[in-house]
Amino acid sequence: MMASDEAYARAAALRAELERHEHAYYVLAAPTIPDAEFDRLFQELQALEAAHPELLTPNSPTTRVGGRPSPELAAVAHAVPMLSIHTETDTTDQGAVSFDGRVRRALGLDESAPPVTYAAELKFDGLAINLRYESGVLVQAATRGDGSTGEEVTANVRTLRRIPLRLQGDAPPVLEVRGEIYMRRDDFQRLNASQEAAGQKVFVNPRNAAAGSLRQLDPGITARRPLSFFAYGLGEVQGWTMPATHTGVLDALAAFGLPVCEHRRRADGPEGLAQFHRDMAALRESLPFDIDGVVYKVDRLDLQQSLGFVSREPRWAVAHKYPAEEVATRLLDIDVQVGRTGALTPVARLEPVFVGGVTVTNATLHNQGEIDRKDVRIGDWVIVRRAGDVIPEVVGPIAERREVELPRYDLLEAVGHVCPECGSHVVRGEDEAVARCTGGLFCPAQCKQALLHFASRRAVDVDGLGDQIVNQLVSAGIVRTPADLYDSARVNQEVLAGLERMGEKSAINLLAAIDKSRDTSLARFIFGLGMRNVGETTAKDLARHFGKLNLFLKAKEEALLEVPDVGPVVAHCILDFLAEPHNLNVISALQEVMHWPETEPAARPQAGALSGKKVVLTGTLPSLSRDEATALVEAAGGKVAGSVSKKTDYVVAGSDAGSKLEKAQQLGVTILDEDGLRRLLEPAGADAPDGQGMLFGE
Ligand code: IVH
Repeated sequence: MMASDEAYARAAALRAELERHEHAYYVLAAPTIPDAEFDRLFQELQALEAAHPELLTPNSPTTRVGGRPSPELAAVAHAVPMLSIHTETDTTDQGAVSFDGRVRRALGLDESAPPVTYAAELKFDGLAINLRYESGVLVQAATRGDGSTGEEVTANVRTLRRIPLRLQGDAPPVLEVRGEIYMRRDDFQRLNASQEAAGQKVFVNPRNAAAGSLRQLDPGITARRPLSFFAYGLGEVQGWTMPATHTGVLDALAAFGLPVCEHRRRADGPEGLAQFHRDMAALRESLPFDIDGVVYKVDRLDLQQSLGFVSREPRWAVAHKYPAEEVATRLLDIDVQVGRTGALTPVARLEPVFVGGVTVTNATLHNQGEIDRKDVRIGDWVIVRRAGDVIPEVVGPIAERREVELPRYDLLEAVGHVCPECGSHVVRGEDEAVARCTGGLFCPAQCKQALLHFASRRAVDVDGLGDQIVNQLVSAGIVRTPADLYDSARVNQEVLAGLERMGEKSAINLLAAIDKSRDTSLARFIFGLGMRNVGETTAKDLARHFGKLNLFLKAKEEALLEVPDVGPVVAHCILDFLAEPHNLNVISALQEVMHWPETEPAARPQAGALSGKKVVLTGTLPSLSRDEATALVEAAGGKVAGSVSKKTDYVVAGSDAGSKLEKAQQLGVTILDEDGLRRLLEPAGADAPDGQGMLFGE
């Protein structure tokens, strides 16, 4: 049946009207009709399109949720790379002065030249997106990814009502709009409340919630998540007479029907920028969304062009941050958590307090050394700081508010000198800030990590025993120590096949891999035990030196010190580990089921490719979990650190890498992707990255 001209005209009119109301409601936040009336028009259009499918256009307001779940997000090469932005970490006015100084120097302006005009705007704390409009129709949306290649999220983005499926007015043949997908704080609170009620994952902050909601394989899920969007720039443009300024661009984007944040202004010279920075600081708390600073851009596009870029950052733009947010609250108690390396971490239980857009109920106190240094006591009023994504921390007590004398806190005393997870002894070396559980393989907090390490490629190499399976095996109480892996009463085909994501076939393969790992070498075995400070190289040296496991197990400090590169610190780590009866039990059980030749083949000692190097991991890597990446780095003698500093040697960045990547770029730390890391770890000629696999050159 052909649709009548009348039906065609009615559908077109309804679409135009609905688009107008959507824009008024979602972009301008000024509804033009009651919700019920909107729904009525929407249903009329739906009915019309159902009766006359030939009337349906791909961009009808009724098609927002149409996409089907996809197996993975496809890669999209950006026509114009999505750059990052230099961050000014000096949070005072000086930040604006430095940026303006750099711009003036680069433009060759002397003191007599008039101030440069900038466009000042907010730095939204979400994730960057590229929206491609062809002849005014949204055809593709992609995340930033590594800047050159992102992930396609078109179907997901189509569900955001703030993003027009068609631009208003006279749209050019190609217009790529760049901006930030974010979640409002109130939406975030509501989402988390309903996630919690449904027994589902709650998000730590609005940014993570936005990222998690956008990068869904099922657009139906994104559609139910309250995401928002602001446009702040352009990607590829064809057939458009560009405005002369960035301000003009944003005005034009607003006229096309895109949401542009109202908190922006032209600002002259460093004074104008600093004024904006201060004004927005005053506004920050009352904004409905998180910002982590402001952004300044040279307003004239011709000047932007002549300023150009340095290492993937435009010279014409800068992010000027705000100091981390701090609030006062009461320290109610201190809990002790055991980390994956056995470190006992004191965690502050706080009277709930709202800071930086989230309610904080606990914060890290780092370790006993920090508690002593700050002299924090239970019952104190304390200052809590939250900076971006970082775990909130207790900055220190407010001494004047301590009304009665409170006892000093002692972690070892608080736990009765034993690990709260497994009851093993806790030791804190002289001059050491951190107290550690000596339970090693026996401690559940450490045993998942210990199992992964034991099974890793450079240790006894159980192919296919990854994160997911270890988690299930340990959580279900099936396996606690590496020795349990070889106990057929615990680990057998039936048990393995019953795990999530495991079929009969994978179960058979995994059993075979476990069986194969019984044949190993003494060096791999010693390395696999995961003693602190005993990396692959040291394990090889120990194996070569002692030849037999029993000689190693009986070695006294003096004997250990004869091994090349074993000093008192390493020797003590070994002795502490072997002093624990639990560890010895596991070792003797393993001795029953594993075999290795008595003496190692004499190989040239090979230093780990990363020996002595500090590595920071950030973002999601394509194939390695964080633990696997950590195990790889550690197996190569490197250390994985939590934060980037001048001492960091490499940052390994995956998708959605955030502030750590930015910091690394600022400090000029070498940045690798997963391939780059793997290449570094390859034995041959792998002492320096060769530029391939690096995300950002220097
Ligand atoms: S402009 C060439 N403007 O900050 C400059 N970015 O590293 C490209 N961001 O993740 C960015 N608010 O998504 C620009 N008003 C704003 C921004 C902004 C937030 C984010 C952006 C990216 C990071 C830049």
